[in-house]
Amino acid sequence: MPADAEYIVEMKHITKRFPGITANDDISISIKKGEIFAFLGENGAGKSTLMSMLFGMYEPDEGEIFVRGEKVSLSSSNAAAALNIGMVHQHFKLIPNYTIAENIVLGIEPVKKALGIFPYIDIKSAEKKIMDLSRFYGLEVNPKKKIEEVNVSTQQRVEILKMLYREAEILIFDEPTAVLTPQEIEFLLDTMRELRKKGKTIILITHKLEEIKQIADRCAILRRGKLVEVLAIAESSTREMANLMVGREVSFIREKSPPKFGDVVLEVEGLSVKNENQFEVVKNVSFSIRKGEIFAIAGVSGNGQVEIADAVAGLAKPSKGSIRLAGRDITAEKIRRRIEEGIAYIPEDRQKYGVILDFTLQENLAVKQYYLPPFSKKGVLQEEGFKKYAEDLSRRFDIRSGQGTRTLTRSMSGGNQQKAIVAREISLDAQLLIFVQPTRGLDIGAIENIQNQIIAERDMGRAVLLISLELDEVMNLADTIGVIYNGELLRISAAPELTPNEVGKYMMGVKS
Ligand SMILES: Nc1ncnc2c1ncn2[C@@H]1O[C@H](COP(=O)(O)OP(=O)(O)O)[C@@H](O)[C@H]1O
Ligand SMILES: [Mg+2]
Repeated sequence: MPADAEYIVEMKHITKRFPGITANDDISISIKKGEIFAFLGENGAGKSTLMSMLFGMYEPDEGEIFVRGEKVSLSSSNAAAALNIGMVHQHFKLIPNYTIAENIVLGIEPVKKALGIFPYIDIKSAEKKIMDLSRFYGLEVNPKKKIEEVNVSTQQRVEILKMLYREAEILIFDEPTAVLTPQEIEFLLDTMRELRKKGKTIILITHKLEEIKQIADRCAILRRGKLVEVLAIAESSTREMANLMVGREVSFIREKSPPKFGDVVLEVEGLSVKNENQFEVVKNVSFSIRKGEIFAIAGVSGNGQVEIADAVAGLAKPSKGSIRLAGRDITAEKIRRRIEEGIAYIPEDRQKYGVILDFTLQENLAVKQYYLPPFSKKGVLQEEGFKKYAEDLSRRFDIRSGQGTRTLTRSMSGGNQQKAIVAREISLDAQLLIFVQPTRGLDIGAIENIQNQIIAERDMGRAVLLISLELDEVMNLADTIGVIYNGELLRISAAPELTPNEVGKYMMGVKS
C-alpha cells in the first residue's frame, strides 16, 4: 500500500543500534517534496546516522523507509542514487589529484568509441554538462582544475554538482557550513534557496539555529537518539528550538561574578614570532595575565593570535621578546617542562594535536600524567586508576561515549572529543590555561558547559588566555580584552570598557 503521496520521504519507526548505544530510537518523520527540512540536534544526537540510512550507508535494525510513497530497501548508496537521493558528507569524498570533472563523473563516466571500436572517456561532454549545471544553479567551478588546487568552498560546490549530475532530487547536506567562512555560508544558503526554487527537496543537518531560522521550512529536533519534535520554522523562536535541542533552559548569557585578580601569572614582553616564510606574524606584543583573570584575544582569523598561544605553550619559537611564568623566564623552555610548570593548552586542531584517535577515552584523559599515580605504580599501569579518573571527568564535563571510558576515541563524535580535551587540560591543575577556539563547532549545550567550566577555573584563581574568533564568546567570558590586527595588539582594555561594536572595529584594523 503506498503511503501518503504528499511526502517524498517517509521514515517510519526507525531504530538503529551501535555497540552500547541506540543511535536512533523509533524515529518517524515525513518530508515534503520541495521543502527545506532541517535536522537539529546536539553532537551525537543521531542526525548523521538517520540520514545515512536514507543514503544507503547503513540499514535500519527496525522500521521502514518510503520514497515517493513506495517502500524501499536502501542497501547501498547506489540504491539511493537510483532513487535520486544524494548526500554531501561532513568530510568530502573527493580525489585530490583528479580534476573537478573527473571527480564529478567518477563511476558513471560517459564513454565514446574511437573509430567506432575503442572506448574512451568523453571528458569533453562531461565538462559541457557540468558547465551547464553550474550555470543553471549558479555554482561556479572550473571543471579542468584539480581538487587539490581549489578551496574548501569550491570542493563543496563540486560535491553538490556531483549530486546534480546524478540527477539527485533529494539532497542531503550534513553540517555543510562547519567548514565555511561567513561569506561562503551566505552563498551556500543562497544556493539552497535556488535548489528549492527549482523543485529539489533539501535535507539539512546542522546544530546551528541561525541557519535553520534563515532557511528551513520545517525542522525535526533529535535528542539522544529520540525525535523530540517537528516544528514549523516560521512559528518557532530560536530560544524554543535551543531548549528543545538541549532538553533544558539554555542561557545565551554567562553568569559571571566580579573578578578577583591576584598575582601576575603570565608576562609576555615584546614578543615577535615569524612564520615558516620568515614573515613576522606577531609583532612586538606585550601583555600580562593575573590569577583569576580571563584575558581574551579577539581578532579575525589569521592575525597572529594562534601564534601567540603557540609561543606561550612552546610550539612556536619567538624571534624576539620574552615569556615569564610566575616570574620565571620560560622563553627557551621545552614543551614538557612548560606543562610541568603549569601551562595547559587546548589547541585549535583537536584531531591533530588534541587526542590520539586510536587510544580509548580513558587513555586520552590521562595521556599527560600516565606515568604518575594513580595511573601507574612502580612502572605498572593501573587500569582502575584510569577508569575512575575518566568516569569522574565524564560526569563533570558531560562526555558521552558509546562504551563508557573504554570507548575508542575515534568512534566518539567531534563534540565529545573536544569536551574530553577540555576536561583533560583543565584537570591538570595548571596555573595558566590556554584555550584556542575552545567551543568551535560545538552545539549550544556543549558551549554553555565549556564556557561555564572556563569561568569556574578563573574563579578558582587560575589565569586564562582565551583565543576566540567568536565575538560573543569574547564578550561573554573576558575580564580583559586584547584586540589583535595584523600581528599587533591594537588595544588592551578591561572588558566592561569596550562594546562589541568597538571590538569589532579594532578587529578590522580601525585604530581610533
Ligand atoms: N559507526 C558507528 N559505530 C559506533 N557508534 C557510532 C557509529 N556512528 C555513530 N555512532 C554513535 O551514534 C551516536 C549518534 O551519532 P551521529 O549520528 O553521528 O550523531 P550526530 O550526527 O547527531 O552528531 C553517537 O553516540 C555516535 O558516537
Ligand atoms: Mg553528524
